[in-house]
Amino acid sequence: MIDHTKYTIEPMISAKEIAARIEQMATSIAEQFSQSDQIIVIGLLRGSFMFISDLVRELSLPVEVDFIETSSYGDSTESSREVRILKDLRGEIEGRDILIVEDIVDTGHTLNHVKQLLAARKPRRMLVCALLDKPSRREADVTADLVGFEIPDKFVVGYGIDYAQRNRNLPYIGAVKFID
Ligand code: IMP
Ligand code: MG
Repeated sequence: MIDHTKYTIEPMISAKEIAARIEQMATSIAEQFSQSDQIIVIGLLRGSFMFISDLVRELSLPVEVDFIETSSYGDSTESSREVRILKDLRGEIEGRDILIVEDIVDTGHTLNHVKQLLAARKPRRMLVCALLDKPSRREADVTADLVGFEIPDKFVVGYGIDYAQRNRNLPYIGAVKFID
C-alpha cells in the first residue's frame, strides 16, 4: 500500500506551457497528415486521457477517437517490461491513417509493443506523438515522431499521469519527491 503522505510534488511543466506546446504539436500533426481526409487518434489508456482530449480540440482535421489499454506499472515506479493488452481498439485500422497518443515514453517497451501490434494491422500511415520523453531511460529501440517535452529521469505525475492511481487530476506536471 502506497502512503501518499510520504512524498511531495515539485512543479515541472505548467498548465500554460503544456497548452502552448499542444498547440504547436497540433499544427505539426495537421501538416504531417495534410494528405489525409480523416485520421484515427488512438489514446493509450489511461495516462493519455487528458493529453488526447486537449490535443484533438486543437486539431484542424476530421478525427475519430479510439483507445487501447496496456498493463501498467501497478503501484511501482519501475517498468515491468512485460506488456499486455487489457483493452483493444474498437475499430479497424487497416488502410487508415492513425496517430498513436502516448503520455510518456520511458523504457519504450509499451510503445514498442503497441507500434508492432498496430503496424501488423496494416494502417496506411502511422505516427506517434508523446507528451513526454525520458530518452535516458530507453531500453527498447523505439522513438515517437513528435515529442512535447524531453524530461530528465524523474518519476512524474499530473495531467493524466498517476502514481499508484493518484494525481492524474493535477492540471500541471510535477516530479515526485520522496520524503525520508
Ligand atoms: P515504458 O513502457 O517504460 O516506456 O513506460 C510506459 C508507461 O509507463 C507510460 O505510458 C506511463 O503510463 C508509465 N510511466 C512511465 N514513466 C512514468 C512516470 O514518470 N510517471 C508515471 N507513469 C510513468
Ligand atoms: Mg501510459
